[in-house]
Amino acid sequence: MEPSNKSPSARPPTIAWIGEADGHLELLDQRSLPERVEILRLDTVEGVWSAIQTLAVRGAPAIGCAAAYGMVIAARRADSMPKLKAAAEYLKSSRPTAVNLMWAVDRVMSTIKEPGTPAVIRALEESRRIHAEDAAMCDAIGRHGAPLIHAGDGILTHCNAGRLATGGSGTALAIVYEARRRGVPFKVYADETRPLLQGARLTAWELMDAGIDATLICDSMAAMLMAQKKIRLVIVGADRIAANGDTANKIGTYSLAIAAAAHGVTFAVAAPSSTFDLSLADGSGIPIEERDPAEITAGFGRVTAPPGVKVFNPAFDLTPARLIHSIVTERGIITPVNTQTVRATLNSQ
Ligand code: MRU
Repeated sequence: MEPSNKSPSARPPTIAWIGEADGHLELLDQRSLPERVEILRLDTVEGVWSAIQTLAVRGAPAIGCAAAYGMVIAARRADSMPKLKAAAEYLKSSRPTAVNLMWAVDRVMSTIKEPGTPAVIRALEESRRIHAEDAAMCDAIGRHGAPLIHAGDGILTHCNAGRLATGGSGTALAIVYEARRRGVPFKVYADETRPLLQGARLTAWELMDAGIDATLICDSMAAMLMAQKKIRLVIVGADRIAANGDTANKIGTYSLAIAAAAHGVTFAVAAPSSTFDLSLADGSGIPIEERDPAEITAGFGRVTAPPGVKVFNPAFDLTPARLIHSIVTERGIITPVNTQTVRATLNSQ
């Protein structure tokens, strides 16, 4: 791993559109981290689909921003509305759970009435708006959520809900960064996040890069740390939140919420309004992505299970609203979490 003496701002951005309507998309390739900082240059819709599917870009808000720029490329290529709509559906099929993906693609699509250069320009303007709004939402989540962190806290986070997962400073980690900016002393535990190790590869890298006191643990160690009173607060991100607050997030989140409830630990979710799916009354309708069994049997190329073993590999789980103390959004904190409070906060401003 490279020495972490660079300021976070010296790192390449997670997502960048280079140039104007004839430009291209650049992604900080998260498959290479923490070993190498590599930039992926994309100028095809297939390339953007593949980058999302293979987690070169991942995290709900970041997927939405990348797919929006993918629509600029699609608008450049399409010579008819049916072809553009097909490209939009194709991009939306890259991953099923994070609703930001569908939300962002639909938002860009809604600006286009017929293909052509003006449509490409409008698609780029809308994508840039989505990206800028996401960055602003991250900062607002940080401001609203910072008071959740108290001096001396041990904080646990899962997967990566930081700048690598968004178009800005993060969701759960935006709160951490803002609390640090306010001078609050705390330490963060990062779950490794089996099987793809986003916590180990990405969150540990990102937190060290930002100079945060971070300790890496295996997923299975969280309950023990709670029993030892080393964790007072769990903060995670979200991939889709139903109208009643039920939350889909990286597999293992539900176990953390149960462990937190058993130990009197505060369990909070941080997410922008673009992660809410109010068309679903509760979480039972959220599609849960199942990924390649090889991620478990031969993760990162090393065979760790007998050939032919049956595997179940859901990438997300569902945490019921009753286990969530608060959801931090850019519009304020939802607590307690239920259909009325979700609606009231999302309708505010
Ligand atoms: O499979 P991933 O890496 O895309 O899963 C990401 C998560 O589960 C994050 O916690 C979530 O998207 C929060 S984004 C700020």
